[in-house]
Amino acid sequence: MNLSVPLFAVIGNPIAQSRSPAIHAAFARQLGIELQYERVLAPLAGLASTVQQLRSQRQLAGCNITTPFKAEALRLASSVSPRAKLADAANTLGWSLDGRIWADNTDGAGLVSDIERGAGFPLTGRQLLLLGAGGASSGCLAPLLQARPARLAVWNRSTDKARALVERHAALATQLGIELLALPALEGHWELAINGTSAALGGGALRLPAGLLAPDGLAYDMVYGAAAEPFLNSAPLGAQRRDGLGMLVEQAAEAFALWHGQRPDGAPVLAALRDGSLPA
Ligand code: ATR
Repeated sequence: MNLSVPLFAVIGNPIAQSRSPAIHAAFARQLGIELQYERVLAPLAGLASTVQQLRSQRQLAGCNITTPFKAEALRLASSVSPRAKLADAANTLGWSLDGRIWADNTDGAGLVSDIERGAGFPLTGRQLLLLGAGGASSGCLAPLLQARPARLAVWNRSTDKARALVERHAALATQLGIELLALPALEGHWELAINGTSAALGGGALRLPAGLLAPDGLAYDMVYGAAAEPFLNSAPLGAQRRDGLGMLVEQAAEAFALWHGQRPDGAPVLAALRDGSLPA
Protein backbone atom coordinates (compact mmCIF):
# COMPACT_ATOMS: atom_id res chain seq x y z
CA MET A 1 0.00 0.00 0.00
CA ASN A 2 1.40 3.37 -1.01
CA LEU A 3 -0.30 6.29 0.77
CA SER A 4 1.35 8.94 -1.40
CA VAL A 5 -0.49 7.66 -4.49
CA PRO A 6 -4.17 8.67 -4.27
CA LEU A 7 -6.62 5.83 -3.77
CA PHE A 8 -9.84 5.42 -5.75
CA ALA A 9 -12.26 2.51 -5.62
CA VAL A 10 -15.42 1.01 -7.02
CA ILE A 11 -17.77 -0.16 -4.29
CA GLY A 12 -20.58 -2.65 -4.86
CA ASN A 13 -21.99 -6.05 -3.94
CA PRO A 14 -21.08 -8.18 -5.83
CA ILE A 15 -17.95 -6.49 -7.17
CA ALA A 16 -15.57 -9.16 -8.53
CA GLN A 17 -16.93 -8.67 -12.06
CA SER A 18 -16.19 -4.93 -12.20
CA ARG A 19 -13.98 -3.75 -15.05
CA SER A 20 -13.60 -0.27 -13.59
CA PRO A 21 -10.09 -0.87 -12.13
CA ALA A 22 -8.73 -1.85 -15.57
CA ILE A 23 -10.47 1.10 -17.24
CA HIS A 24 -9.25 3.69 -14.72
CA ALA A 25 -5.72 2.25 -14.81
CA ALA A 26 -5.74 2.59 -18.62
CA PHE A 27 -6.96 6.21 -18.38
CA ALA A 28 -4.25 6.98 -15.81
CA ARG A 29 -1.55 5.57 -18.13
CA GLN A 30 -2.98 7.57 -21.05
CA LEU A 31 -2.76 10.85 -19.11
CA GLY A 32 0.36 10.12 -17.04
CA ILE A 33 -1.50 10.31 -13.72
CA GLU A 34 -0.50 8.10 -10.79
CA LEU A 35 -3.32 6.46 -8.88
CA GLN A 36 -4.48 3.24 -7.24
CA TYR A 37 -7.97 2.00 -8.08
CA GLU A 38 -9.42 -0.99 -6.23
CA ARG A 39 -12.57 -3.12 -6.15
CA VAL A 40 -14.23 -3.01 -2.74
CA LEU A 41 -17.01 -5.35 -1.65
CA ALA A 42 -19.30 -3.61 0.86
CA PRO A 43 -21.71 -5.57 3.04
CA LEU A 44 -25.31 -5.00 1.93
CA ALA A 45 -26.02 -2.88 5.02
CA GLY A 46 -22.57 -1.31 5.10
CA LEU A 47 -22.03 1.27 2.36
CA ALA A 48 -21.64 4.27 4.71
CA SER A 49 -19.22 2.50 7.07
CA THR A 50 -17.18 1.13 4.15
CA VAL A 51 -16.79 4.62 2.64
CA GLN A 52 -15.96 6.14 6.03
CA GLN A 53 -13.34 3.49 6.80
CA LEU A 54 -11.63 3.84 3.41
CA ARG A 55 -11.58 7.60 3.88
CA SER A 56 -10.23 7.63 7.43
CA GLN A 57 -7.80 4.71 7.19
CA ARG A 58 -6.58 4.97 3.60
CA GLN A 59 -7.39 8.56 2.53
CA LEU A 60 -9.80 7.43 -0.20
CA ALA A 61 -9.83 10.27 -2.77
CA GLY A 62 -12.96 9.26 -4.66
CA CYS A 63 -15.12 6.27 -5.48
CA ASN A 64 -17.52 4.87 -8.00
CA ILE A 65 -20.63 3.27 -6.63
CA THR A 66 -22.36 0.38 -8.30
CA THR A 67 -25.26 -2.01 -7.70
CA PRO A 68 -27.03 -2.06 -5.27
CA PHE A 69 -25.80 1.14 -3.61
CA LYS A 70 -26.42 3.94 -6.13
CA ALA A 71 -29.52 5.35 -4.41
CA GLU A 72 -27.98 5.10 -0.95
CA ALA A 73 -24.78 6.79 -2.16
CA LEU A 74 -26.75 9.93 -2.89
CA ARG A 75 -27.75 10.16 0.76
CA LEU A 76 -24.13 10.10 1.95
CA ALA A 77 -23.38 13.37 0.20
CA SER A 78 -23.78 16.97 1.39
CA SER A 79 -23.86 18.25 -2.16
CA VAL A 80 -25.55 16.54 -5.08
CA SER A 81 -25.35 17.49 -8.76
CA PRO A 82 -28.64 18.30 -10.54
CA ARG A 83 -28.30 15.22 -12.78
CA ALA A 84 -27.74 12.92 -9.79
CA LYS A 85 -30.75 14.48 -8.07
CA LEU A 86 -32.96 13.81 -11.09
CA ALA A 87 -31.55 10.29 -11.41
CA ASP A 88 -32.19 9.77 -7.69
CA ALA A 89 -28.88 7.88 -7.69
CA ALA A 90 -25.15 8.52 -7.67
CA ASN A 91 -22.33 6.53 -9.25
CA THR A 92 -19.48 8.88 -8.33
CA LEU A 93 -18.46 10.34 -4.96
CA GLY A 94 -15.65 12.68 -4.10
CA TRP A 95 -14.55 15.04 -1.34
CA SER A 96 -14.46 18.82 -1.53
CA LEU A 97 -11.62 20.76 0.10
CA ASP A 98 -13.64 21.29 3.28
CA GLY A 99 -13.94 17.50 3.63
CA ARG A 100 -17.58 17.16 2.60
CA ILE A 101 -18.81 14.46 0.24
CA TRP A 102 -20.17 15.44 -3.18
CA ALA A 103 -22.19 13.08 -5.39
CA ASP A 104 -22.66 12.98 -9.11
CA ASN A 105 -24.04 10.57 -11.68
CA THR A 106 -22.05 10.08 -14.89
CA ASP A 107 -24.05 7.13 -16.28
CA GLY A 108 -26.29 9.21 -18.54
CA ALA A 109 -23.45 11.36 -19.84
CA GLY A 110 -21.58 8.13 -20.60
CA LEU A 111 -24.56 6.74 -22.49
CA VAL A 112 -25.05 9.93 -24.52
CA SER A 113 -21.37 10.15 -25.33
CA ASP A 114 -21.24 6.51 -26.47
CA ILE A 115 -24.34 6.90 -28.65
CA GLU A 116 -23.29 10.20 -30.23
CA ARG A 117 -19.54 9.75 -30.55
CA GLY A 118 -19.08 5.99 -30.27
CA ALA A 119 -21.98 4.95 -32.50
CA GLY A 120 -21.92 8.21 -34.52
CA PHE A 121 -25.65 8.69 -33.91
CA PRO A 122 -26.51 12.35 -33.07
CA LEU A 123 -29.53 12.55 -30.76
CA THR A 124 -30.79 16.03 -31.60
CA GLY A 125 -34.23 15.94 -33.21
CA ARG A 126 -34.58 12.14 -32.93
CA GLN A 127 -37.46 9.92 -31.77
CA LEU A 128 -36.25 7.92 -28.76
CA LEU A 129 -37.79 4.97 -26.99
CA LEU A 130 -36.40 4.09 -23.55
CA LEU A 131 -37.35 0.63 -22.31
CA GLY A 132 -37.31 0.25 -18.54
CA ALA A 133 -37.87 2.63 -15.63
CA GLY A 134 -35.51 1.18 -12.99
CA GLY A 135 -32.18 2.50 -11.81
CA ALA A 136 -30.39 2.20 -15.15
CA SER A 137 -33.03 4.15 -17.09
CA SER A 138 -33.56 6.67 -14.33
CA GLY A 139 -29.83 7.44 -14.31
CA CYS A 140 -29.89 8.35 -17.99
CA LEU A 141 -33.11 10.20 -18.63
CA ALA A 142 -31.99 13.77 -17.84
CA PRO A 143 -28.81 13.57 -19.98
CA LEU A 144 -30.84 12.01 -22.81
CA LEU A 145 -33.25 14.95 -22.66
CA GLN A 146 -30.34 17.39 -22.57
CA ALA A 147 -29.16 15.91 -25.88
CA ARG A 148 -32.41 17.41 -27.29
CA PRO A 149 -34.28 14.61 -29.03
CA ALA A 150 -37.62 15.68 -30.55
CA ARG A 151 -39.54 13.07 -28.60
CA LEU A 152 -38.72 10.58 -25.85
CA ALA A 153 -41.06 7.85 -24.64
CA VAL A 154 -40.50 5.65 -21.60
CA TRP A 155 -42.02 2.19 -21.58
CA ASN A 156 -41.94 -0.08 -18.55
CA ARG A 157 -43.51 -3.38 -17.55
CA SER A 158 -44.79 -1.78 -14.32
CA THR A 159 -46.68 1.20 -15.62
CA ASP A 160 -46.61 3.26 -12.42
CA LYS A 161 -42.79 3.40 -12.49
CA ALA A 162 -42.74 4.74 -16.06
CA ARG A 163 -45.27 7.40 -15.13
CA ALA A 164 -43.34 8.43 -12.01
CA LEU A 165 -40.05 8.68 -13.92
CA VAL A 166 -41.64 10.83 -16.63
CA GLU A 167 -43.36 12.99 -14.03
CA ARG A 168 -40.03 13.68 -12.29
CA HIS A 169 -38.52 14.87 -15.59
CA ALA A 170 -41.57 16.72 -16.93
CA ALA A 171 -40.32 20.20 -15.99
CA LEU A 172 -36.93 19.61 -17.64
CA ALA A 173 -38.58 18.31 -20.81
CA THR A 174 -40.93 21.30 -20.97
CA GLN A 175 -38.04 23.69 -20.43
CA LEU A 176 -36.14 22.05 -23.29
CA GLY A 177 -39.22 21.86 -25.56
CA ILE A 178 -39.14 18.05 -25.79
CA GLU A 179 -42.20 15.84 -25.95
CA LEU A 180 -41.75 13.38 -23.06
CA LEU A 181 -44.32 10.67 -22.61
CA ALA A 182 -44.88 7.49 -20.64
CA LEU A 183 -46.15 4.16 -21.93
CA PRO A 184 -46.39 4.65 -25.69
CA ALA A 185 -48.18 2.04 -27.76
CA LEU A 186 -45.47 -0.44 -28.80
CA GLU A 187 -45.66 0.31 -32.50
CA GLY A 188 -44.28 2.82 -34.99
CA HIS A 189 -40.85 3.55 -36.27
CA TRP A 190 -38.66 4.78 -33.42
CA GLU A 191 -35.17 5.87 -34.48
CA LEU A 192 -33.43 4.72 -31.31
CA ALA A 193 -34.56 2.02 -28.88
CA ILE A 194 -32.54 1.77 -25.65
CA ASN A 195 -32.91 -1.27 -23.43
CA GLY A 196 -32.47 -0.15 -19.85
CA THR A 197 -34.22 -3.16 -18.31
CA SER A 198 -32.46 -5.93 -16.42
CA ALA A 199 -34.68 -8.54 -18.13
CA ALA A 200 -31.75 -10.40 -19.72
CA LEU A 201 -29.92 -10.67 -16.42
CA GLY A 202 -32.95 -12.47 -14.97
CA GLY A 203 -33.06 -14.89 -17.88
CA GLY A 204 -36.20 -13.45 -19.53
CA ALA A 205 -34.67 -11.32 -22.26
CA LEU A 206 -36.58 -8.42 -23.77
CA ARG A 207 -36.99 -8.40 -27.57
CA LEU A 208 -38.08 -5.64 -29.93
CA PRO A 209 -41.49 -6.26 -31.47
CA ALA A 210 -41.27 -6.28 -35.30
CA GLY A 211 -41.68 -2.82 -36.79
CA LEU A 212 -40.96 -0.90 -33.58
CA LEU A 213 -37.48 0.28 -34.62
CA ALA A 214 -36.92 2.02 -37.95
CA PRO A 215 -34.90 -0.18 -40.35
CA ASP A 216 -32.07 2.40 -40.28
CA GLY A 217 -32.38 2.99 -36.53
CA LEU A 218 -30.10 2.12 -33.62
CA ALA A 219 -30.79 -0.62 -31.07
CA TYR A 220 -28.79 0.01 -27.90
CA ASP A 221 -28.55 -2.21 -24.83
CA MET A 222 -27.13 -0.77 -21.62
CA VAL A 223 -25.74 -4.19 -20.68
CA TYR A 224 -22.85 -5.66 -22.63
CA GLY A 225 -21.64 -8.97 -23.97
CA ALA A 226 -23.87 -12.03 -24.24
CA ALA A 227 -26.61 -10.47 -22.08
CA ALA A 228 -27.19 -7.83 -24.78
CA GLU A 229 -27.48 -10.29 -27.65
CA PRO A 230 -31.19 -11.30 -27.50
CA PHE A 231 -32.29 -7.65 -27.59
CA LEU A 232 -29.79 -6.54 -30.23
CA ASN A 233 -30.51 -9.59 -32.40
CA SER A 234 -34.19 -8.67 -32.42
CA ALA A 235 -33.44 -5.36 -34.21
CA PRO A 236 -34.46 -5.20 -37.87
CA LEU A 237 -31.98 -6.13 -40.56
CA GLY A 238 -29.92 -3.04 -41.43
CA ALA A 239 -30.35 -1.38 -38.05
CA GLN A 240 -27.23 -0.44 -36.12
CA ARG A 241 -26.69 -2.41 -32.88
CA ARG A 242 -24.54 -1.50 -29.91
CA ASP A 243 -24.08 -2.97 -26.45
CA GLY A 244 -23.26 -0.98 -23.31
CA LEU A 245 -19.51 -1.58 -23.08
CA GLY A 246 -18.87 1.87 -24.53
CA MET A 247 -21.25 3.39 -21.99
CA LEU A 248 -19.24 1.72 -19.21
CA VAL A 249 -16.03 3.25 -20.55
CA GLU A 250 -17.55 6.70 -21.10
CA GLN A 251 -19.19 6.92 -17.65
CA ALA A 252 -15.76 6.09 -16.26
CA ALA A 253 -14.16 8.80 -18.41
CA GLU A 254 -16.67 11.33 -17.03
CA ALA A 255 -15.94 10.26 -13.44
CA PHE A 256 -12.20 10.42 -14.13
CA ALA A 257 -12.63 13.98 -15.42
CA LEU A 258 -14.53 14.99 -12.26
CA TRP A 259 -11.71 13.73 -10.01
CA HIS A 260 -8.65 14.64 -12.09
CA GLY A 261 -9.77 17.61 -14.18
CA GLN A 262 -8.75 15.90 -17.43
CA ARG A 263 -11.04 13.80 -19.60
CA PRO A 264 -9.38 10.71 -21.09
CA ASP A 265 -10.13 9.44 -24.59
CA GLY A 266 -12.43 6.43 -24.17
CA ALA A 267 -12.07 5.09 -27.73
CA PRO A 268 -8.70 3.29 -27.39
CA VAL A 269 -9.73 1.84 -24.03
CA LEU A 270 -13.00 0.53 -25.49
CA ALA A 271 -11.07 -0.97 -28.42
CA ALA A 272 -8.65 -2.68 -26.00
CA LEU A 273 -11.55 -4.10 -23.96
CA ARG A 274 -13.19 -5.40 -27.14
CA ASP A 275 -10.05 -7.07 -28.50
CA GLY A 276 -9.11 -8.50 -25.12
CA SER A 277 -5.80 -6.65 -24.87
CA LEU A 278 -6.91 -4.83 -21.69
CA PRO A 279 -6.99 -7.35 -18.85
CA ALA A 280 -10.06 -7.33 -16.64
P1 ATR B 1 -31.49 -1.56 -12.61
O1 ATR B 1 -30.74 -0.80 -11.58
O2 ATR B 1 -30.69 -2.63 -13.33
O3 ATR B 1 -32.24 -0.70 -13.58
P2 ATR B 1 -33.96 -2.05 -11.26
O4 ATR B 1 -33.98 -0.68 -10.70
O5 ATR B 1 -34.40 -3.20 -10.42
O6 ATR B 1 -32.52 -2.45 -11.78
O7 ATR B 1 -34.84 -2.03 -12.61
C1 ATR B 1 -34.98 -3.13 -13.43
C2 ATR B 1 -35.77 -2.73 -14.67
O8 ATR B 1 -35.85 -3.85 -15.56
C3 ATR B 1 -37.20 -2.31 -14.40
O9 ATR B 1 -37.60 -1.39 -15.37
C4 ATR B 1 -37.92 -3.64 -14.57
O10 ATR B 1 -39.29 -3.53 -14.85
P3 ATR B 1 -40.36 -3.44 -13.63
O11 ATR B 1 -40.27 -2.02 -13.13
O12 ATR B 1 -41.64 -3.72 -14.25
O13 ATR B 1 -39.93 -4.45 -12.62
C5 ATR B 1 -37.21 -4.17 -15.77
N1 ATR B 1 -37.34 -5.62 -15.94
C6 ATR B 1 -36.73 -6.59 -15.23
N2 ATR B 1 -37.08 -7.81 -15.69
C7 ATR B 1 -37.93 -7.60 -16.74
C8 ATR B 1 -38.62 -8.44 -17.66
N3 ATR B 1 -38.51 -9.78 -17.59
N4 ATR B 1 -39.39 -7.87 -18.61
C9 ATR B 1 -39.50 -6.53 -18.69
N5 ATR B 1 -38.87 -5.67 -17.86
C10 ATR B 1 -38.10 -6.19 -16.90
